[in-house]
Amino acid sequence: MNFVSDRLKRIKPSMTVGINVKANALRAEGKDVLVLAAGEPDFDTPENIRKAAARAIEEGQTRYVPGKGTPVLQKAIQQKFLSDNNLKYELDEIMVGVGGKHIIYNAMMATLNQGDEVIIPSPYWVSYPDIVLLAEGKPVIVKCSEDQGFKITAEQLANNITPNTKWLMLNSPSNPTGAVYSEKELLELSSVLLKHPNILIMSDDIYEKIIYGSVKFTTLASLEPKLKDRCLTLNGVSKSYCMTGWRLGYCGAHKDIISAMNKIQSQSNSSTSSISMAASVEALNGTQDFISEHNKKFVLRRDMVVSKLNEIEGITCQTPKGAFYVYPSCKGIIGRKTKEGKEIKNDEDFMNYLLDKEGVAGVHGEAFGLSPYFRLSYATSESILEDACNRIAKACKELT
Ligand SMILES: Cc1ncc(COP(=O)(O)O)c(C=O)c1O
Repeated sequence: MNFVSDRLKRIKPSMTVGINVKANALRAEGKDVLVLAAGEPDFDTPENIRKAAARAIEEGQTRYVPGKGTPVLQKAIQQKFLSDNNLKYELDEIMVGVGGKHIIYNAMMATLNQGDEVIIPSPYWVSYPDIVLLAEGKPVIVKCSEDQGFKITAEQLANNITPNTKWLMLNSPSNPTGAVYSEKELLELSSVLLKHPNILIMSDDIYEKIIYGSVKFTTLASLEPKLKDRCLTLNGVSKSYCMTGWRLGYCGAHKDIISAMNKIQSQSNSSTSSISMAASVEALNGTQDFISEHNKKFVLRRDMVVSKLNEIEGITCQTPKGAFYVYPSCKGIIGRKTKEGKEIKNDEDFMNYLLDKEGVAGVHGEAFGLSPYFRLSYATSESILEDACNRIAKACKELT
């Protein structure tokens, strides 16, 4: 008997989740594995947020809550958009979901008709194409090379627009590359988008606050107000507030999109947890001091990893401007042979080799739509990162 729908057959499970499961299983077997594949900060949720959640439980905030967010959370999100992004969203233009991923899923389900195209610059976050496929849309992958900073250009955007284009996905700072779009780059994209009034833009700002040095974060709806009604500005507490397990994302968008997304939520998950909503109020309204503390640590780790990787023959690594990943090229490794005579044919072979040989788990670039690269997360301790880089160097030296 065939249990599975045709819709589901179109997609594959998340590769990053799969690699983490494999690495953790090896660890459980007693193997010495360093996992640099996770997409989450290694810091605990700050104490003030944990306490707010505990208080919410004690106070009995344990019943059904509105799917679009409790009134106090909606106000906190409204204020966040205003003070951080200079974006004025009315309350009916704001909604909450079960993480940023769920917001993207809901948005695609609410807006895509069969065959509608979604332009996805690659390297992309692994879930974008599969969510689009699940919603019966057609992902249009646009490869953005390293020499263009892994970012889509206005020319590439213009060349990939068709009468069926419904969405453009933008993610800055980016997972997996850490690339950040400048104001100038976003304005160039805007000038193309203004000529095509039917295209919506998903601005995935989930790494907004994990950005380094003097690099400035900009979001499209705020930079080009004429596009505001066509932008879905996505954010969430997962990354900046170390709350990946709490499952809360939010967005601002045109009220018709929000209302359609709420309709889906009302007939599916109803809402995210009332406790997560209470905790997120504290995250958004409470002290933000720990964010710069975390970023200071991330910068030290990033610089160490970039410099150590660049010392390895066959690997080159740019310095990312945000998020907590590096996306080095392993072009110089492809074609080399292991001691056992097995050729490293692509980035997936290289990642399997590193995992089997030295117990280092990263994610191959193909999972993000651009090879030959690999993603390492530096959201882990400096000692683990140093150990991992030394092991990668050792493994590469053994290749001939
Ligand atoms: C680019 C990007 N967008 C969205 C998400 C979703 O975050 P969450 O669903 O955990 O809030 C992630 C998580 O890895 C991400 O990297």
